[in-house]
Amino acid sequence: MTNINIIDRNKLPQHVAVIMDGNGRWAQKQGKDRIYGHEYGVNSVREVARAAAELGIKYLTLYAFSKENWKRPSDEINALMSLLVNTIKNEISILIENNIRLLVIGDMSDLTDDCRNEINKSISQTSANNGMSLILALSYSAHWEIIDAVKKIARLVKDNKLNIEDINENVLTENLNSKGIPFPELLIRTSGEKRISNFLLWQIAYTELYFTDKLWPEFSKEDFYKAIIEYQNRERRFGMLSEQLK
Ligand code: IPE
Ligand code: IPE
Ligand code: MG
Repeated sequence: MTNINIIDRNKLPQHVAVIMDGNGRWAQKQGKDRIYGHEYGVNSVREVARAAAELGIKYLTLYAFSKENWKRPSDEINALMSLLVNTIKNEISILIENNIRLLVIGDMSDLTDDCRNEINKSISQTSANNGMSLILALSYSAHWEIIDAVKKIARLVKDNKLNIEDINENVLTENLNSKGIPFPELLIRTSGEKRISNFLLWQIAYTELYFTDKLWPEFSKEDFYKAIIEYQNRERRFGMLSEQLK
């Protein structure tokens, strides 16, 4: 039985963001090391990206590595970085075939030159694609992104290109690293943790949050459909009354 037929194609979220969590715990349950969990997690990335593209979702943002993840043991960081570069290299032809555009949000200056060059190459190879945008959050933290935006805005004010009175929500949004990407309507976090871990704080002000106990490597397209269906059954009021929405 698949849940895909229950999905209302006219009520799809335009943008789904995912905190892909639980790789380490999944591996430990199999008696393997954490790296094995990260490697296996790539299967879920593939499956969820395909499911999202097939449904017609326009933006899929995946939290792949946070600023805080730099505090992990160096073995794990190195394994994650090579997994990242190798996966992008291996999957680039599939992205091109499927008209998927690759984007990155995050502090790319933290990455090694090799890693950054490889990613930039793939970004430019897919830049003309106009199907789904697959956004990888890499060395990303929402605090970093917001502070970076504040610095840009301060510079505009200092250079007399912007009046302080004209700073509004749009100005902040337009100076974020993720500018041009609509806010997500749905945020999924796997692994049972119920926190945001410094992801997209500005952008999720009115996002529907969906938590599941499934660990990322066991999260399948059917689990993704379940999250979409739950999203479609929520009433998004944006501060108004139910009656006003009718
Ligand atoms: C998510 O899985 C992947 C990254 C954060 C890079 P974890 O590595 O956090 O796995 P757990 O949460 O320890 O199980
Ligand atoms: C969040 O997962 C970051 C990513 C999924 C890339 P973490 O495992 O790093 O988050 P915490 O430490 O549980 O908050
Ligand atoms: Mg984790």
